[in-house]
Amino acid sequence: MRDLQAIRAQLGSQYSDTVWEGLAPYIESINRLKRERNAVVLAHNYMTPDIYYGVADIVGDSLKLAVEAAKTDAAVIVQAGVYFMAETSKILCPNKTVLMPDMDAGCSLSESITGADVRLLKEKFPGVPVVTYVNTSAEVKAESDVCCTSGNAVKIIKALAAEGHKTVLMIPDEYLAMNTQAQVPEVKILTWRGKCEVHERYTAEDVADIKSRYKGDIYVIAHPECHPDVIAMSDYSGSTAQLQNVIETKQPRRVLLITECSMGDNLQTANPKVEFVRSCFLCPHMKRISLPKILKSLQTMTTEVTVSGEIIVRARRSVDRMLEYSRA
Ligand code: 13P
Ligand code: SF4
Repeated sequence: MRDLQAIRAQLGSQYSDTVWEGLAPYIESINRLKRERNAVVLAHNYMTPDIYYGVADIVGDSLKLAVEAAKTDAAVIVQAGVYFMAETSKILCPNKTVLMPDMDAGCSLSESITGADVRLLKEKFPGVPVVTYVNTSAEVKAESDVCCTSGNAVKIIKALAAEGHKTVLMIPDEYLAMNTQAQVPEVKILTWRGKCEVHERYTAEDVADIKSRYKGDIYVIAHPECHPDVIAMSDYSGSTAQLQNVIETKQPRRVLLITECSMGDNLQTANPKVEFVRSCFLCPHMKRISLPKILKSLQTMTTEVTVSGEIIVRARRSVDRMLEYSRA
């Protein structure tokens, strides 16, 4: 575990001394309590830098968080992310205690579809495999054939195509499905009308404006939850981990990162030579998670995420199948 001074040094560019003085006691207490409780903090890339660099044991995109949840031998997982991520951890680790620092940290995609909706879709399209984005409830996962993340969607649809499927249902993110369709034309992808309330706000016109402001001298990378017109204006598209990877390996001089704002703060901290052009939106659900709430969660061991045994068994099949296809 890194000491407080090392964390302070890393976060130097993000927080003034006064702000740091307010954060440090939380970081210290959380890291101490984690040891006492045999707990790990799994943090999504959209967490603020104080969480991401200060208290997280594992950071990553949805895929990495699922893979790591399955591997950890800690007794307690504190999910610094949104509710569906905590449910995924519980599905993969039913015997562990999974804690959510704020139970209201939802997701517009997850809220866009129910298990009953999926049952109706299956009646309407019998025999068509249902590929479900992990940004959904455990109940929706349980009704599905296989899950996907933004990092492996293309791979999973290609695997189904290789098995001979000509049509697949990819739910609930309409834009992710359209962006995947563009990369896997051999399969017909049917979708749902779900949207990420953060990524749907970006427009191709905004991107064109910023590009012209910098006379094209800007590397544009976007999350595939954005509209296909935005993706078409981008140099690269991928999951949050893939976006991070391309910045770390390419070290572009100037970047427009089209995703949630905290990801830019975290990447700026680790890549001081890259100029990040600030034009981003915050996810109000992700931003519900804070150091005081993580500390309270560990002190009181609340709020514990529960999923019924029957749903766990069925949802786990979809998540495991995704992990298998991802490894292949
Ligand atoms: P990934 O980190 O898997 O790319 O997901 C982005 C997202 O919006 C999670 O809610
Ligand atoms: Fe959901 Fe979008 Fe927020 Fe991710 S960024 S949690 S997809 S609303």
